[in-house]
Amino acid sequence: MTESVKNIVILISGAGSNMTALIRTAQQEQWEVQLGARVAAVISNQPGAEGLALAQALGVATQVLDHKDFESRAAFDAALQTLIDAHQPALVVLAGFMRILTPGFVAHYAGRMVNIHPSLLPAFTGLNTHQRAIDAGSTEAGATVHLVTNELDHGQILAQAVVPVLPDDSAKTLAARVLAQEHLMYPQAIKDFLRELKPA
Ligand code: GAR
Repeated sequence: MTESVKNIVILISGAGSNMTALIRTAQQEQWEVQLGARVAAVISNQPGAEGLALAQALGVATQVLDHKDFESRAAFDAALQTLIDAHQPALVVLAGFMRILTPGFVAHYAGRMVNIHPSLLPAFTGLNTHQRAIDAGSTEAGATVHLVTNELDHGQILAQAVVPVLPDDSAKTLAARVLAQEHLMYPQAIKDFLRELKPA
């Protein structure tokens, strides 16, 4: 392992399908050789997150930091920052990490923390994006990869994937169509981002 390897730390809260797509792509495409980058760890705030076992099965170290063990959001974020920074990350990837982040935490990772959000931002920030897109009569939906800033689901857009909203769609069928595109877009967007990153 060279010292200049770009460590990626992935944060999850649940299923971890985007995390899985990212780890698989990194392994199949040999990012360590091609990009000098590797997924160093997966951290979950939910002890029961399904993604933890998937990451372990793919040979990636996992850690759990349960937010319920902390008195405040700031205390949790401070502990999370310490865990993440032990890996000296070039990039922090939020992959279904369902937490509001404190300004200090966001500032600490400014320019090196990305998120995927299941809507065509700036439309439908926040939760229940698919139902809201259907209710609004949108003909198109999708997902967005963006840099994380203090304003929720804002920040520079790095990539977007668009899918049609079909007449019979439920939130579930639309979410599945969008998620399939997320799995293609997120690894590609991260690869492009890593290529642009200057060495530390
Ligand atoms: C994904 O659809 C992601 O875009 C969304 O959660 C899902 C996580 O799925 N993220 C957000 O809603 C963030 N606000 P996964 O755990 O299977 O990757």
